Amino acid sequence: MKVFKTVSEIRDYLDKERRNGCSVGFIPTMGALHRGHTEIIQRVRRENDLVVCSIFVNPKQFGNNVDFKKYPRNIDKDLQILSDIDCDIAFTPSTEEMYPGPVKEDYQFGELEETMEGKYRKGHFKGVAIAVKRLLEITEPDRAYFGKKDYQQLLIIKKLVEITGLPVVIVPCNTVREPDGLALNSRNQRLTPQQRKDAAIIHKTLLKAYNLYNKKTPFYQIKQMVKLEINAMPTLRLEYFEIANPENLKPLKTYMPDQKAIACIAVYAGNIRLIDNMVFND
Ligand code: PAJ
Repeated sequence: MKVFKTVSEIRDYLDKERRNGCSVGFIPTMGALHRGHTEIIQRVRRENDLVVCSIFVNPKQFGNNVDFKKYPRNIDKDLQILSDIDCDIAFTPSTEEMYPGPVKEDYQFGELEETMEGKYRKGHFKGVAIAVKRLLEITEPDRAYFGKKDYQQLLIIKKLVEITGLPVVIVPCNTVREPDGLALNSRNQRLTPQQRKDAAIIHKTLLKAYNLYNKKTPFYQIKQMVKLEINAMPTLRLEYFEIANPENLKPLKTYMPDQKAIACIAVYAGNIRLIDNMVFND
């Protein structure tokens, strides 16, 4: 596996490979790699000639400096994981390499950046968009892969590609879970054993909500149930639970037969924030 730290090195290498007719598949990450990442990388491997994975803990998407500082970092272990699963190229730029000068771009995502994650993490998606745009410009992939666990991020990236006209196909990937249902997440390793155990209730509550949704239960009752279930765990606190239109994340008020829906949830375990979602199909 090749490891590149600079933009010029990776560009030169990929330009050559592209001229040889290789297709490029790309997955951006912030490292602390887990099975959620590696399952995506294995898919990238199956669908492309070259697999490129970036590891960059992007300061611009953290509102909170403590969360940024505490974000788990283990580059040696990550590179070993990538090499073991047959990744071709790891791109590990420094902050100076990613942002050599002041960043001037400002993308407008409208309501999509104001709701849910956008409401509670002001500026988060602008920071994500700036990093992803830069990474897509550097790697120029045919396909870029994003997890549905971060569903709102996926919609933001699709919109970013639409706004910028970047010639890349965005490929959504299914959420990978622990056996008890908890969505894999780099921050999970910071949970205490009790928080980790309690966090399994998040997915279970989404399943319960889905069950009530299928019985056409009024949404305010579903929301009440979710709040009670989550907040009954001494180590957890619900931040939001919303049932929304999966196309644009506009909140839905009531069950409608032909309307697709997605339930999105954010929960605090101490100061660690966990998000998850579930598509509600009839
Ligand atoms: P990170 O949290 O490292 O996630 C990298 C990619 O892996 C994202 O597309 C995310 O949705 C996906 N992913 C994480 N956990 C997953 C799981 N349990 N199942 C399926 N996919 C999962 O998301 C980011 O980094 C950053 O915001 C980034 C896009 C790299 C921009 O900085």
